[in-house]
Amino acid sequence: MLNEIKKRLADTLSEKRYAHSLGVAEEAKRLAEIYGADADKAYLAGLLHDCAKRIPTDKQLEECTARNVLLDEWAVKCPPVIHGFLGEEMAKSEYGVTDAEVLGAIRRHTVGGKGMTLLEKIVYIADLTEKNRDFDGVSELRKIVGTDLDGAVELSIRQQIKLCMSRRSVIHPDIICLWNDIMIGDTK
Ligand SMILES: [Fe+2]
Ligand SMILES: [Fe+2]
Repeated sequence: MLNEIKKRLADTLSEKRYAHSLGVAEEAKRLAEIYGADADKAYLAGLLHDCAKRIPTDKQLEECTARNVLLDEWAVKCPPVIHGFLGEEMAKSEYGVTDAEVLGAIRRHTVGGKGMTLLEKIVYIADLTEKNRDFDGVSELRKIVGTDLDGAVELSIRQQIKLCMSRRSVIHPDIICLWNDIMIGDTK
């Protein structure tokens, strides 16, 4: 099954996006082994997390409508987060994924959310710390991600909100919910 999924992703995603997807799968598996989550689910969710990126960003909204993917009022206004919600649907309908945890990790990798599971947090952060990523602040995340998962998630939220503010872009409220969970220690 994994080989089929890989082949399909390799055929539909750009070379760079496919390499990133493999990187997230490997990083999510590594983190799952450290933190005691299911490594197979982490690998699968990592592999498929960006499967909806084969649809151009400006077409994702209409694709959501066509596939009956419900978006909240904020997701509609944040184009970069939509592929998480669309990806969940595509993982189900095109890749046969039925596991709710894997699907949740795909859905929430862009926005985070309240009460995230360990697996969801792992995929969320693996998306940022996988080996092909290169952005300001990635080395700080990599330094702590293997020993302090919540600390790494906290730092990534700081980085992302700062970036959204500097770009004057909409901040999806689910990321604030994730921030609040970490601040009050309501973590899994
Ligand atoms: Fe993504
Ligand atoms: Fe990604």
